[in-house]
Amino acid sequence: MKVVTDVGQLPSGCAFVPTMGALHAGHASLMSIAKEHSENVVVSIFVNPLQFESAEDLAKYPRTPDADIELAAMHGVTHVWLPPHADIYPKDHPVLTAGQISQLYEGKSRPGHFDGVVTVVRRFFDLLKPGTAIFGEKDFQQLKLVEEIAGDVKIIRAPIIREADGLAMSSRNIRLTPEGRAAAAVISQALFASETESELRKALASQPLLTVDYADFIDEESFLPAGGDTAHTRAIVAGWINGVRLIDNRQMVQRS
Ligand code: PAF
Repeated sequence: MKVVTDVGQLPSGCAFVPTMGALHAGHASLMSIAKEHSENVVVSIFVNPLQFESAEDLAKYPRTPDADIELAAMHGVTHVWLPPHADIYPKDHPVLTAGQISQLYEGKSRPGHFDGVVTVVRRFFDLLKPGTAIFGEKDFQQLKLVEEIAGDVKIIRAPIIREADGLAMSSRNIRLTPEGRAAAAVISQALFASETESELRKALASQPLLTVDYADFIDEESFLPAGGDTAHTRAIVAGWINGVRLIDNRQMVQRS
């Protein structure tokens, strides 16, 4: 496996897994899926300042480069790309505006976040020219917005990877206290035990350490509230435990 900073040393047409590092088993599964699509798997590690709301949040983001490179090597990755900031954001690089759904849910709670995400992802695609790119369904709103700007790059959706108690894997989970970590299981447990929005909200309310931001059933396409004739409904949840923002979602049974 090669670790490179210069995009000129990377194979275009590859399968691409963009990350911000602090890699865990969820990322490893993206790498394994990438391997099914190309001999050449490129993983980028770049903590994108544009998608953080504050300098404090950016500084708090975990950075574990040595462990990240080791994990990538163990999962068939052929190239780790550590792009210098100046290559991604040359002077006056424009910030893109993410699609309409970027104003809702995660975007409402984190203004500008999705503009930062689509700007960096489009820049990665323009520099690297991958054939496919793998994105996890945990960040479902991100996935939908990336699909809108993907152009020729084929986006592969990867399922959420969960801890034994159901908690969706995330780089943020390590910031939870032991009590907070135990409490966090309520999110997935409520998602999988509920068939209606009111059941979901009631189940989440049973955990006093969780402050719910939203717990909604939405139409997967529009992100508007799901109704009786919605073909593809997804239950989505976000909230805070110990000040750590956690998100999760579940695709509900589809109407044919
Ligand atoms: O999901 C992430 O880790 C980031 O949002 C991404 C896609 C790597 C862009 O910085």
